[in-house]
Amino acid sequence: MKLHIDGGLPLFGTLAVDSSKNALLPIIASTILTDGVTVLKNVPRISDIENLLKILVSLDIKARFKNGDLEIDTRNIKFNSVSPEIAGKIRGSIFVLGAIVGRFGQSSVPYPGGCAIGSRPIDLHLQALRDLGINVTEQNDVITCKRKNIKTSNTTTEVFLDFPSVGATENLIMASVIGNKRVRIINAALEPEVEDLCNFLKSCGAVICGQGTSTIVIQGVKALTATTYTAIPDRINTGSYLIAVAACGGEVTLTNTIPHHNANLIAKLQKVGCEIKVDGGNIKIKSPIKNSCHKESKSNLGFLKSLGCVHTAPYPGFATDIQSQLAVLQCKSRGLTTITENLFENRFKYAGELGKLGAKVCVKSKSITITGVKQLVASSDENSPTVLVASDLRGGVSLVLAAICADGKSVIHNAEYIYRGHQDIEKDLVSLGANIIREDG
Ligand code: UD1
Repeated sequence: MKLHIDGGLPLFGTLAVDSSKNALLPIIASTILTDGVTVLKNVPRISDIENLLKILVSLDIKARFKNGDLEIDTRNIKFNSVSPEIAGKIRGSIFVLGAIVGRFGQSSVPYPGGCAIGSRPIDLHLQALRDLGINVTEQNDVITCKRKNIKTSNTTTEVFLDFPSVGATENLIMASVIGNKRVRIINAALEPEVEDLCNFLKSCGAVICGQGTSTIVIQGVKALTATTYTAIPDRINTGSYLIAVAACGGEVTLTNTIPHHNANLIAKLQKVGCEIKVDGGNIKIKSPIKNSCHKESKSNLGFLKSLGCVHTAPYPGFATDIQSQLAVLQCKSRGLTTITENLFENRFKYAGELGKLGAKVCVKSKSITITGVKQLVASSDENSPTVLVASDLRGGVSLVLAAICADGKSVIHNAEYIYRGHQDIEKDLVSLGANIIREDG
């Protein structure tokens, strides 16, 4: 799939943000723990979700989209081993490990796939499940879990995570909610998506407290029922669109957001010179820069400031999933910025592509140093656009942002990566004034 982009246009208007992919993946996996028909409202049709549903279908769960909602019927669920073809496609497949063992007392899941952004080990997931009293074995790239028969006891099982891994925390929660144990997770991830999973499970009858803090306590219950639920808005896509406006110039209101989930980025956007107004679930952003098509004279061109040093960190630190998009913004800022990536070692593949648009970037070890330029520039020949190649979801989004704010014509190859996390990125940005044409196939 390709995206053909004619850049340099400012963005104006209003845009509603979709529900969060990273919240929905564990929520969908955790429906394995429920009995009945769950309705998830406003679910984007993105490939990561479609692939996860294939795993659920292989357990004889019925799943269908209806008017933008997703219905999941687990009434005929059966235990099955998960096939490597499906599990290999998404990282999210690791979640079914905790959910299946939570439901059936056993699970057999091949190693997960996902974006090529680093080695992405699963040792914390497996250790956490072992600490919970589950027998975990790994053979021929398949992880097999079996719950040990433990008599009812009034004691609490404490599981300490050496690092607050989002996925390991979620897996642990899913493996703990059904049963007769009390489990305390210490050093749990604080990400809003973890909190959302807990809120979903609570609406199914789970007993959980402390979600959103580093200590989560779960009291196992006999069974969970189906529910109707709306996942939180996607804070990463919210961040990408805010950065798009900041980089292109213009004024946009994003609706269906939870502004405090983006507090870290909002503070940075204000530092670079954007005006931000928060009103309930809306974020309004006005960029200080004017692109070449603005009517103002050249001398009136605004500019963005550099941020200096930025480090990615677990929530509420600066999100690794917005690192590449922020780098694009800093390409157009006055001065020098260094962004250090502390979570995934392979997240700078986009940097070489930005160079094709005239960005001055240098990657060394865990950091990218960016020297701002006045304008990113793509090809002026529509028969020979600048070719940019996406190699993962968020890096691919950053190429879209770079191409829409650059003067000239670009084409983004391997755009299917982007649609793992965005239902309609080109339609969204076109509705704000960008010029993007999607070419399937
Ligand atoms: C989730 C998000 C992903 C985001 C990341 C960090 C989903 C589907 N994905 O990924 O978009 O970038 O959080 O916010 O929600 N680690 C280990 N061993 C493990 C697990 C993780 O060493 O067993 C390391 C990872 O290599 C990484 C760090 O811990 O360096 C963070 O990973 P983690 O929080 O687990 O991220 P994911 O759940 O994979």
